[in-house]
Amino acid sequence: MKTVLKLFFISLGLIIYISCAKDDAVKNDPATEQAILAKYLDLPANPFNYTSPDLPAFYNDQFIKIQDNTPAGNPVTNWGATLGRVLFYDKRLSKNNTISCSSCHAQETGFTDPKQFSDGFNGGLSKRHSMSLINARYYVNGRFFWDERAATLEDQVLMPIQDQVEMGMRLDTLVKRLKGTEFYPILFKYAFGNETINEQNISRALAQFVRSMVSYSSRYDEGRAVVNNRVTDFPNFTAEENQGKNIFMTNARVNCSGCHTTDAFIMDNPRNNGLDASNPDSGIFVHSKDANDIGKFKVPSLRNVAQRERFMHDGSIQGLQAVIEHYNSFIQMSPTLDPHLINSTTQGPERMNLSQAEKDALIAFLKTLTDEKITSDKKFSSPFR
Ligand code: HEC
Ligand code: HEC
Repeated sequence: MKTVLKLFFISLGLIIYISCAKDDAVKNDPATEQAILAKYLDLPANPFNYTSPDLPAFYNDQFIKIQDNTPAGNPVTNWGATLGRVLFYDKRLSKNNTISCSSCHAQETGFTDPKQFSDGFNGGLSKRHSMSLINARYYVNGRFFWDERAATLEDQVLMPIQDQVEMGMRLDTLVKRLKGTEFYPILFKYAFGNETINEQNISRALAQFVRSMVSYSSRYDEGRAVVNNRVTDFPNFTAEENQGKNIFMTNARVNCSGCHTTDAFIMDNPRNNGLDASNPDSGIFVHSKDANDIGKFKVPSLRNVAQRERFMHDGSIQGLQAVIEHYNSFIQMSPTLDPHLINSTTQGPERMNLSQAEKDALIAFLKTLTDEKITSDKKFSSPFR
């Protein structure tokens, strides 16, 4: 009797095993998977190259070795960033399926929002102005948001999803929602080796996609590649653009490059650039609780800055002309105003007294930082059909 039972269970097990294996074989068949993906998404069969973009040599020395905030545990892979791209454009990430990351970070405007404040999923407005995501990879300290409250990009990307104004979503609900689709299990398997969908892998994929948004084909890059330093005139620039670059880089009174440093035009130390003496937004202080941080904000990258409509954490400045006017004439004194912007003789806020030609030259220079490729490249656009 015992042997009969044993035999029965062994054959039952075998039958189950064979039928499961057959099922898996169909599910794991690449052609079937491609057909499922193709129903919903316009993705190339071989993923786009996110891992090794064709960076100029000066990028390698400066950024890759010194400034890159990619953690060892989450390098950018082609399928990881592809999954991140799908998530970035997916309205399923918001509670009522109305908002995706791209709603507030639109590719054509350099991954920011032309509006002063962004519309959330439920009709509310974001508290601050949306930020450009280009070159997020090269903030060495790896902290994110205007007030740098997110310690890593992996932490940051999950915050808008759960924000009560922005996307209003619970992560466990999101995981269930993605599991319920036909295509996400396949994409998670391609990206991370198995179909497990969890918060950690959502975060890793989104961070990979954001880190892949590297700008390196602006006219500035072309000039920089042949001159090999930032100060010498670039041969591909007009006289006006070179004049603007010179003011930006070397004029001690203006000192733009004192804060917007390196070829990414970024700084790792939050600063107060004199926007408002009675600032209702206390910046870094919000989380550091250090009075020296009141009114200090992240120094954002100026890459693709000319594609932005609104500027600063509160989006209060409209147009580049007004940005220059702010630095030229309207810097406000406050206890935390950056020493770069205090006049050493008067001890008051710096008044730059730029001529109209100098202001125009600065703007002409800022426009050379626009990389048209990144804002039109298909690999950063919506993959949804
Ligand atoms: C409703 C609009 C909105 C949505 C949706 C949104 N963001 Fe943002 N994003 C913002 C705003 C506003 C800020 C600045 C907030 C702050 O500093 O307090 C920001 C900041 C960021 C930053 C910080 C950049 C830096 O240099 O510090 C990153 C990265 C980012 N968002 C990525 C994403 C991702 C990924 C998604 C989707 C999961 C997303 N955002 C969804 C509005 C939005
Ligand atoms: C003391 C450091 C400092 C100096 C000097 C400085 N900046 Fe800034 N810049 C900042 C900070 C900090 C911000 C963000 C401030 C905020 O949002 O509250 C900023 C923001 C900007 C922005 C807006 C970017 C965006 O995405 O909203 C532009 C454009 C800009 N600066 C250009 C310049 C130019 C041009 C100069 C020289 C005339 C200059 N900056 C000098 C620190 C500085």
